[in-house]
Amino acid sequence: MISISETLNSMRSPLRHCFFYLFLILLFSCQGEQNSKKYKIGFSQCTGLDAWRRQMLVSMRGELVFYPEMELLYRDAENSSERQIGDIEYFIENKVDLLIVSPNETDPITPVVEKAFQSGIPVIMVDRKINSSMYSAYIGANNYEVGKLAGNYIADLLNGKGSIVEIWGLRGSSPAVERHRGLWEVLAKYPEVKMVGEIDGKWEQDTAKVQVQRTIRNFAPFDLVFAHNDVMAYGAYTVCLKVLPGNDIKFIGIDALPGPIAGTQFVADNILTASFLYPTGGEESIRIANQILKGLPYEKENTLLSTVIDSKNVRVMKLQYDKLLSQQKDIVRQQQLINEQIETYYSQRILILILLVSLIIMIVAGAIGAYNWREKNEINKRLEAKRSEILQQRNTIAAIAEKAELATQEKLKFFTNISHEFKTPLTLIMGPVEELLERGGDSRINVHENLSLIRKNAMRLLRLVNQLMDFRKIEDRKMLVKASELDVVHFIADIMTAFEKLAQKRKMDFQLVTEHRQLYAWFDPDMIDKVIFNLLSNAFKFTNDRGKIYVTISIDDEQKHVTICIEDNGIGMSEEHIRHAFDRFYTGENLTGNGIGLSLSKEFIELHHGELMLRSEKGRGTRFCIMLPFGNAHFDEQQLFSGKFNWQRNSNYDFLNEYSLPQAAVESQENNSKKDYTVLLIDDNSELRQYVKNRLQTVYNIEEAHDGATGLRLAFEIVPDLIICDVMLPGKDGFEVVKTVKEDLRTSHIPTIILTAKGSIEQRIVGIQSGADEYITKPFVLEYLHERIKALIRSREQLKEHYSHDLNIEMNGNTPGSLDKKFINDFTAMIEKHMANSELHVNDISRELGMSRVQVYRKVKALLGYSVNDYIISVRLKKAKHLLMNTDKTISEIATEVGFSSPTYFSTSFKSKFNLSPREFKTSQTA
Ligand code: FRU
Repeated sequence: MISISETLNSMRSPLRHCFFYLFLILLFSCQGEQNSKKYKIGFSQCTGLDAWRRQMLVSMRGELVFYPEMELLYRDAENSSERQIGDIEYFIENKVDLLIVSPNETDPITPVVEKAFQSGIPVIMVDRKINSSMYSAYIGANNYEVGKLAGNYIADLLNGKGSIVEIWGLRGSSPAVERHRGLWEVLAKYPEVKMVGEIDGKWEQDTAKVQVQRTIRNFAPFDLVFAHNDVMAYGAYTVCLKVLPGNDIKFIGIDALPGPIAGTQFVADNILTASFLYPTGGEESIRIANQILKGLPYEKENTLLSTVIDSKNVRVMKLQYDKLLSQQKDIVRQQQLINEQIETYYSQRILILILLVSLIIMIVAGAIGAYNWREKNEINKRLEAKRSEILQQRNTIAAIAEKAELATQEKLKFFTNISHEFKTPLTLIMGPVEELLERGGDSRINVHENLSLIRKNAMRLLRLVNQLMDFRKIEDRKMLVKASELDVVHFIADIMTAFEKLAQKRKMDFQLVTEHRQLYAWFDPDMIDKVIFNLLSNAFKFTNDRGKIYVTISIDDEQKHVTICIEDNGIGMSEEHIRHAFDRFYTGENLTGNGIGLSLSKEFIELHHGELMLRSEKGRGTRFCIMLPFGNAHFDEQQLFSGKFNWQRNSNYDFLNEYSLPQAAVESQENNSKKDYTVLLIDDNSELRQYVKNRLQTVYNIEEAHDGATGLRLAFEIVPDLIICDVMLPGKDGFEVVKTVKEDLRTSHIPTIILTAKGSIEQRIVGIQSGADEYITKPFVLEYLHERIKALIRSREQLKEHYSHDLNIEMNGNTPGSLDKKFINDFTAMIEKHMANSELHVNDISRELGMSRVQVYRKVKALLGYSVNDYIISVRLKKAKHLLMNTDKTISEIATEVGFSSPTYFSTSFKSKFNLSPREFKTSQTA
């Protein structure tokens, strides 16, 4: 079996893997943004200081927004060719994917650009050129054309006549050279247009200003200044304004940048007469770079257009520029927005990824949890199943053990009961035998009566032994049915004959009722004989003289069974008794006679596949019905007795006498003379009662009771001098009877003898605890019982004497029970309380004690040996004696105090008790 911890461990490893992979996903997703910049573009700028160059960079960045995969690496050479070479080298080393160069000077920069190009880096030249074709593309306006445009404009402006001062850009840079060339190529056509001076402005306003300041006067007067760019033209203008005031000099530049301090504005402000548009090519460079990097077709030479801006179109241009600027600003703003959104997007993407990863982790953990839960449940279920299996096994074992225990108990009970059942007949055998042995020659002894009692009880023992044997056989499954086909009517009538005599004797209505003359059925005659005999015996036992017992034989409606019913109008059974009637030994009411017979009968009928049914009502009678199936199909081959069968009843029906109560004999022997003592005999066995009564009635008045309740009722009614009580009684058992007697003030003084078949030490203890004075077990010898009765009565007598004489004497072993002591104390105290009342009567006392007058009388007589009145007088006299001895009171005073109506009566009573008159007694005391 897999343990829970193993399962969890095995689940942890996939969980670890899962987390690991999720972590990688997260990592790569975050890196995705950086890796999206696939292309590195190196941009080497000659200078980033002026507005035109700044404009170029702005345009590039604006365009780069559309190419997020491109990354622009920017380096400013600050007008130093040397430095620019270093920058390009740096880009080569860093393996940029593309290089954009705007060279400071043509010649110094050419080799390094070629190097880059040769190393496989595509190179885009912007604005300025090199002396080589080793570049991928060129973007910029045609400076030669721009020069020509300017030439034509100037020629026009000067009407083909005038002097010009030219301010150069850096002479080593291609625009300067080409602009100059284009200009003079056109102006050469105007011989009256002359160059009066050249100044090196190196593209910078400040440099130009310095040079103009220094040299301009040398060239005056002149008509026009042509600078290679607007910033230099403006510088010259400012200087000339100071140095050559009042001269109408025209200033012309190139670039026409938008903005407040730039070419277009100078034109608008009439500072410059004109400027020529020179686009930066920033956007185009990025577009071409994209085409190159992605392998798309592109042009190598990309010429940007130029035009003149002067007073005629400057307003339109400015408007356009303003528009452009605002659009540019919008673009920048949008760019910012886009960037912000991209940032938000990336941060949200990370957040979403984290959420996604968390979700996946949760789902995976949930799945694992669910899996574990299911596994756990499965394991629990298996454990639970195992547990309940074990529990079930345990229960089964317990049930088997309990059954075995019950069976053992049943058996033990069975044997205990069987042996008890033996004890009464044994008593009734041993008693008469003893009697015959000891006093056989005595003519008063009825030998025949004794012998027939012995025979009856010997028969009963035999019957019990036979039943026992039958049980044994049934238990061992050795009780085999030997069925033959016999006439049921004849068979039953035959058994009934044996009971006829008894029925007649007891004047009973005993009949066989059937419509059938003959009725053949298959049964074992031995068994059915025992059953019928047992049922008839019971019927006779529990039906009074002159009662009726009917035996009916019939066939059921379906003609499948023969039904034999034995019905009586006897004492009937209680519901409780009916429930247990077929138990092997039911120690309920009327148990005598049932014994094991009914149980055995049921077993016999069941061996015949039949049914034994019982219906009974307390006080109205009992009906037993036997249903036996017709035919022999229900028996095995070996259960059938084939051939002619002549069955002979072997039971000795003589023991039917067992059920004839020797009533007549009893009556004849009854000695009606009144005896001193009354003994109450409580036993459900009438024969035993009879036996004991016959033997003891010459000495005692014998009262009989057949059950506990009757016994108790009689005990309270007659208050006997002694009670003999059996234990196994119908209803209340003997222990209960004795306990009730001993706990009731009215009867507590009566000595009791428990007479029982139960001889175990435990039973004896229960007997003693119940308060019994003697415990005699069956079988007993009557002489012994008689001796015990005599002893108990004698001890009561001694007790009486004790009370009637001096209460201070300690009695040997014959102390009364605490209840009786209390009674004597209460009784005496009551007399003392009412001592002065000469009218005190037994009625007053019994009322105060809550007992009847007879009960008080009997109790006082039994305990003290006095009548109540005698005892009252005796107490009065004892008190008088005490007063005579210890006080100086007069005799008549004392007589009144102790409740004598007259002193004479007092004196007479005193003298008769103490043999001295009160006066004589007093004198004897003082003497
Ligand atoms: C800026 C600039 C421009 C000019 C261009 C020529 O550095 O001087 O004014 O048009 O360069 O390369």
